[in-house]
Amino acid sequence: MVSILIIHGPNLNLLGSRETAIYGAETIEELNQRCHSLASDLGISLEIRQSNSEGEIVDMIQQAARTAKGIVINPGAYTHYSYAIRDAIAAVKLPAVEVHLSNIHAREDFRHKSVIAPVAAGQISGFGAESYLLGLRAIAELLRDAR
Ligand code: DQA
Repeated sequence: MVSILIIHGPNLNLLGSRETAIYGAETIEELNQRCHSLASDLGISLEIRQSNSEGEIVDMIQQAARTAKGIVINPGAYTHYSYAIRDAIAAVKLPAVEVHLSNIHAREDFRHKSVIAPVAAGQISGFGAESYLLGLRAIAELLRDAR
């Protein structure tokens, strides 16, 4: 069974109460539940982690090299400037799908650039919680041969 790691970056623990007009009313627990349910339909094993710290996210990515076959990551604001997270993804050579609840390209200028996108297999942005489910389907499809 293929193992996937979902990483939620900073402030995503506040889903459900944080800027709900942008990020929706669903809590992180509800979102995680939907991801687990899709993972079981797809026959993949899923771990989900959240951190507000850049270094912890780098550690999670490095550990995933030993425990997972692919990563779905919402790097939060780190998307726009974390070369450390970008380098960790490039270093571990695991396919990573970058996901965002909001459409980062339709928001403030500073959100238009992702330093993660060049090392990601692809980016899914703007579909609310559904972005994670699409990301999970995308990584499962990428890893189909490994199943
Ligand atoms: C986000 C978009 C980022 O710009 C923002 O800093 C977030 C959430 C999203 O999921 O839409 O924290 O990654």
